[in-house]
Amino acid sequence: MKKLRCKVCKGPIVIELRQHNVAFCAEHFISFCQNQVARTIKKFWMFGPEAKVLVAVSGGKDSLALWDILNELGYDVDGLVIGLGIGEYSSSSTQYTRDFAESRGLNLIEYDLASTHGFTVPDAAKATSRVPCSSCGMSKRHIFDSVAIDGDYDVVVTGHNLDDEAAVLFGNVARWQSEYLARQHPVLPAQNGFPRKCKPLIRLSEREMAAYCVLRNIDYIVEECPMAAGNKHLEYKDLLNQMEVDSPGAKHAFYFGFLDRASKLFADDFEKSLQTNAHGSEEPLSPCTSCGRPSSNAVCAFCKLVERAAPTSEPVSVEITPRPDMIDG
Ligand code: AMP
Ligand code: FES
Ligand code: ZN
Ligand code: ZN
Repeated sequence: MKKLRCKVCKGPIVIELRQHNVAFCAEHFISFCQNQVARTIKKFWMFGPEAKVLVAVSGGKDSLALWDILNELGYDVDGLVIGLGIGEYSSSSTQYTRDFAESRGLNLIEYDLASTHGFTVPDAAKATSRVPCSSCGMSKRHIFDSVAIDGDYDVVVTGHNLDDEAAVLFGNVARWQSEYLARQHPVLPAQNGFPRKCKPLIRLSEREMAAYCVLRNIDYIVEECPMAAGNKHLEYKDLLNQMEVDSPGAKHAFYFGFLDRASKLFADDFEKSLQTNAHGSEEPLSPCTSCGRPSSNAVCAFCKLVERAAPTSEPVSVEITPRPDMIDG
């Protein structure tokens, strides 16, 4: 069998990428990853060279790799880590992020849910009796938005990779959720007081990001979130990985085929969502009476969550008409 050589320098290889039918040495694999991100930013008009970028960093391989890549590409990029209060998992995720920022001399914004709002993701799950991921996701989005707007960032970027996006697409297609399909684009423009959001890692897979971190000496949290067990997206990832073994490139073809050929079909839904708000509600937006962020209700969903999950916090200023059975006497 012919021995594989690096596509660029013909030296010994560290990784073979069957989906691209190439192999690389360490140096050229690192440049390959950085070029893939540079190409994605350009192709989707994500942001320009002068943009002030905020990267949401979880302490996992993808977002740390993204921060490293953007820094290497010369962007002005700060990190934001949110302490979600999921025990040891959250404290070590934050620590990995701090260590990375320190090693590169980068600016990290730390935002702790418990000390800022008086609740953790497990508290929210208990208070709402819903899966932890739903209040976790909503809290993260709210915090990304407010930190980006308050800090005058031009764009918020997240470490969603090809595997993540293909799995989410699979779930949305399986149920034909057109409103989600409409918003499944790697760029969401700034609108109605919400910041611009981009996903520059969509061309790179989970395996590539893990290899990138090893080669760049980036330590990251390997464990998955303990509260995500049973998450449907993990099942979809397994399914897509099985497809990928038999036909390398299947994930890429599925996701990029959607972007190139099918996402246009949802353009009307997308335009509609831009006229409304980031969560697809058609109600007109006005500032939340508690936090001032745009909301389709008097009090935004996040502030309602704070009220339920952090009972000791200051109550938000909403007028509540008491039910007759709640009135004394
Ligand atoms: P996940 O929803 O956990 O798959 O994470 C998707 C992306 O959200 C990550 O790649 C990060 O960019 C961002 N993210 C997740 N968790 C956090 C966190 N605790 N703090 C800041 N950003 C996060
Ligand atoms: Fe949000 Fe696990 S990171 S529930
Ligand atoms: Zn090489
Ligand atoms: Zn609010």
